[in-house]
Formats: sequence, structure tokens, C-alpha cells
Amino acid sequence: MENINLVSGMRSTGKLHLGHYMGVITNWVKLQEEYNCFYFVADWHALTTKYDKTENLRQDKLDVVLDWLSCGIDPEKSTIYFQSKVLQIAELHILLSMITPNNWVERDPTLKDMVKILKNKDAENNENMPQMSYGLLGYPVLMSADIMAMNADIVPVGIDQLAHLEITRDIARRFNNIYKTDLFNEPKPKLTEVPLLLGVDGQKMGKSFHNDIKISDDEITTSKKIMQCITDRSRARKDDLGHPDKCEVAFKYYQAFSDSETVKQVEAECKAGQRGCADCKRQLGCIINQKFAPVREKRFEYQKDTDKVYDIINEGSKKASLEAEKIMKKVRDAVNI
Ligand code: TRP
Ligand code: SF4
Repeated sequence: MENINLVSGMRSTGKLHLGHYMGVITNWVKLQEEYNCFYFVADWHALTTKYDKTENLRQDKLDVVLDWLSCGIDPEKSTIYFQSKVLQIAELHILLSMITPNNWVERDPTLKDMVKILKNKDAENNENMPQMSYGLLGYPVLMSADIMAMNADIVPVGIDQLAHLEITRDIARRFNNIYKTDLFNEPKPKLTEVPLLLGVDGQKMGKSFHNDIKISDDEITTSKKIMQCITDRSRARKDDLGHPDKCEVAFKYYQAFSDSETVKQVEAECKAGQRGCADCKRQLGCIINQKFAPVREKRFEYQKDTDKVYDIINEGSKKASLEAEKIMKKVRDAVNI
């Protein structure tokens, strides 16, 4: 399916965690075999909320790509780029902003949630900052430009992004109607089926919650974090009968990262009171470290040669620009600009 374009992006949040790995990256790696994949770091989107905290932006962008490459996103198969290096996206964003009614973006529930979080942060800092910038309001329009610049058919995203994608489809349809053309596809979401990986404390895994394990964490750090995982809270002693289904984090990690034989064994021993939680988590730490050893090895190599990584990104950004230019020529014609 060489001719079907697929686009997905991640904001430049810095080093990625195991939740990203399970929920997004493994899926992206598989999709490379089937589609013409465009994977990018959404650095403009990062600015919609962190415009005043850009001191780590360059490193964060690089870290995201380092993690992708070491997990198997292959520049021979996929186009890897920075959003801000594809200027056609900005051009398309302006044109799309002209045809997007305000109320379409104002009622976007994902955007409302983002604003709520921002407002809470501002309240904490007691700052008198404006809560919603013009740029943040345009978040779904910019995302539409990301997708439509490659005229993608398929967009793998999480459930939280569906509302944005609905707007993209509406904008694509509206463009086609207004300018009497059939230039744009209506891109379809492709949801990942993997259940969300929780943080070590049992809450949603996230950098800002300090409960995440990074893909690039070293073995000692990983083992230490694994020892903090919540288990079956009703269990006090090793020979208490355990309940793997109530083991909030550790057993779930076994299910995510170990083979089915191991899962069965852990389950049986836990239920029979033959397995202490500390030992159980020590073993889990080893399993995860073993699984990520080759990934970390690869990351280490890339890190030593960041010139090569920037070459990959520059090359990908050029390819993405060429792809975007194809449709933009027609878009400019359609708009008569
Ligand atoms: N908004 C997405 C997120 O926060 C990132 C993103 C930006 C994106 N542009 C995109 C995802 C285009 C898919 C397609 O996860
Ligand atoms: Fe969870 Fe393992 Fe403890 Fe059972 S023994 S409760 S599976 S950590």
C-alpha cells in the first residue's frame, strides 16, 4: 500500500516513556510495513502551551527522534521530520484558518481540557497570564494542516485526539465544498488497541506526574522505579494469597512486557502465596531491562553521532516538504492565490 499516506506526530515533550512505547511506537513500527508513513515532531504545537519555556526545546525535539530511531522507526521506510521545517504546513494552516468557523474550535472538548489544565497551573503560580492564546485556539487547525499537507488517508492517534481529527475531517470537507474541488481526502483515525500503561503509582503515566519509566532510563534507575510499582494492596506477607487481578501495576507490566508463559507462572505462584512482591518486582525489573537493552544500546550509538541524526531529520524534512508542495500547488490554484 505504498500509495496510502499515513501521518502522525508527537509533541516535543523530551525523552519518551514506556507508555509511549507500548501505546504508540510499537504501533508506528508495524505501520511502516504497510503505509507510506510520515512521522514528525510537533514543535509548533509544543509552543501553543510552552511558548515561554523554550530553553529545552531543541534537546527535547532531538530526544524524541532518538527514542523513535532506537525503537525501530526506520528512516529508510518512514519519513521523519520536524514540523517547523516544513513551511508548507504553516502556509496551509493560514489558508485553513480562513475557512474554519470559530465555534468549531471553541467547542473542541480536547482543547477545553487543555485550557482547564493550563488554568489550574496558572492559578497555582498565581500569575496573570492570558489563559488561551490565539495559537492554542488554532491547535486543531494546525493539526489539520499537518495531516492535510500530506493529504493523509490514515492518522493513528489515541482516543484523546479524536475530537481534533473530527475537526480535520470537517475542515477538509469544507475546503472541498468552498473551492469546488475534491483535492483533500477525509482522513480516518486509526486507534491503537493496546490498553493504557499506568505509571508506577497506578495513575496515568506522565512526565509531569513523576511516575514514568523512560525508554532511555538505565538499568539501575529502571529497577528502582519498578520496585515502587503498586501491587495487590491487600497483601502484607509473602505467603498471603495474592490476587494478580488486583495487582494494580506490577502484574499489568508483566502482561505488557513478558511472554505468556511467564505471566501464567507469576499468576499461579502469586495466587498460591509462593511469590513475594519484592522478588516479583525484582524479576520484573530484569525482564524490562533485558527487553530494552538493545534499544538503549542503539540509542547510545545514535547519541554519540547526533550529526547523523540531524542528517536524517533534514533529509526527512526535505522529503516531507516535497510531498506537501505537491498538494500545495493545487491548493494555491484552487484558492486563486
Ligand atoms: N496533538 C497530538 C498529540 O498531542 C500531536 C499531533 C500534532 C498530531 N499534529 C498531529 C498527531 C497530526 C497526529 C496527526 O498527541
Ligand atoms: Fe503483584 Fe507479583 Fe505481588 Fe502478585 S506477587 S501481587 S503479581 S507483585
